Amino acid sequence: MDHPVSSGSPKQTLPGSTRLSPGPTPPPAGQTITPWLMVVLVVVLFSGGLFGYDQGVISGALHGIKARFSLSPLIVEVVTSWVTLGALFGALGGGELADRLGRKRAVLIAGALFTLGSLVQSLAPDTVILVAGRLTVGAGVGVAAVAAPLYAAELAPTSLRGRFVSAYQLAITVGIFLAYLVDGWLSKSDSWRLMLGASAVPGLLLFVVALVAPESPRWLMKMNRRADAATQIQKIRPGVDFKPRLDAIETALREESGRASWGDVFRREWRRPLLIGIGLAVFQQITGINAIIYYADQIFAAAGFISQSSQTTVTTWAIGGVNVVATLIAIAYIDRLGRRKLLLAGLIGMGASLAVVGIAFRLIAKAAAGAASTGPSGAGIVTLFALVAFIICFAFSMGPVTWTVINEIFPGHIRGRAVAVATAVNWGSAFLVSQSFLSLIGAIGISWTFGLFALFCGAAWIWIFYRVPETKGQSLEQIQQLWKPEPHAPDRPIPS
Ligand code: BGC
Repeated sequence: MDHPVSSGSPKQTLPGSTRLSPGPTPPPAGQTITPWLMVVLVVVLFSGGLFGYDQGVISGALHGIKARFSLSPLIVEVVTSWVTLGALFGALGGGELADRLGRKRAVLIAGALFTLGSLVQSLAPDTVILVAGRLTVGAGVGVAAVAAPLYAAELAPTSLRGRFVSAYQLAITVGIFLAYLVDGWLSKSDSWRLMLGASAVPGLLLFVVALVAPESPRWLMKMNRRADAATQIQKIRPGVDFKPRLDAIETALREESGRASWGDVFRREWRRPLLIGIGLAVFQQITGINAIIYYADQIFAAAGFISQSSQTTVTTWAIGGVNVVATLIAIAYIDRLGRRKLLLAGLIGMGASLAVVGIAFRLIAKAAAGAASTGPSGAGIVTLFALVAFIICFAFSMGPVTWTVINEIFPGHIRGRAVAVATAVNWGSAFLVSQSFLSLIGAIGISWTFGLFALFCGAAWIWIFYRVPETKGQSLEQIQQLWKPEPHAPDRPIPS
């Protein structure tokens, strides 16, 4: 499965961007967003938003769930983290669905899974059904995580593609923030069923919007449905001369060696981009973001924020709100400063703030041994600020840059499946971290747990410094050249 414009070169302009001038080469894509492109954007925003909501909501819902079902720490971890296990399988299936049934139908399926999973969770009579609902929602998250950015990339004009894909990460953070707000509103009554069930409404809306949304002309061309592809292009960009655009897609399809198999993704030729995609996916998670997103309330409780409402307030604003705002910084600077600078600077901040959290928790533990806590101590406040610093640093670096790089390093013919592999690995790592976070705290203590995340930041920094090339300002075709065995001159030398 490929993206229609794999190079960003003027020759391979995306369908439906501006009025074409006569001649064989379409002009560069324009900036106009037509009503149907708005529909595409809505699909992307709903997909990202639901992904974020379904991840973030559990933090506030846990309290009520524990009161209702009296759960062991292991089951708390299962209820929290199995959404990521579902997402892992959903991501692997998502690549296949988007290839076989089309991008639009894959998003439709994600919408249906979101709705079904939300309803199952909110009506669950016992923990088994609750976990089944978590898995179903997770599958929706995984399918959407592969299909939505792919759908965005294939339908957005070249000049807007970066922003369309970035809007997806922004929507994730808005979804997490909304989840925290909903948790805050409903926590007084401990209405966890409503918290978990609330996403059925946007899930259904996503389904309805995807139903009327256009299909990717690129996918239609791949399925030899040229007439349908022409109809879609005319729908997305009324008045545009569609023939040269379809020809450009046809040429690009011919250049790519037909339908790739899963085996092609793992070919020696593509080992380096695959390792970069997988490495970033793993490091994004093992540096601790979702341990904080999922267990924020409990971390703040340990830092001395004893009342449920104070925990919810700091989680909502210090984690959720800050995450949204700092993601805007990334969107503004990712193409100006480049991927490497953001990643390397962000990781230094993430590592330092995690180390501070680790030390602060040592002090909190010492103080707690002496007296009963009446509220956050000095060390508790330091923990709060350090976690805010961590979120800011993550949100302008490892958060959006990971997804940007994963979506730009693979050659067109293996991109869908390779992105699916990296996405599944990302969810697998998220699963491992969230599944083991509480057990890890039990085994080595909260200080060392954060210390371990800080160590992983150091490892990520070194690995990125030596292994991840700068891709800023390069067309996808140029990026592909980086993986050729010939000597090349990227921003940083890449050891072979
Ligand atoms: C990550 C998620 C994380 C979110 C936080 C995303 O890039 O993939 O796992 O929860 O950022 O903003």
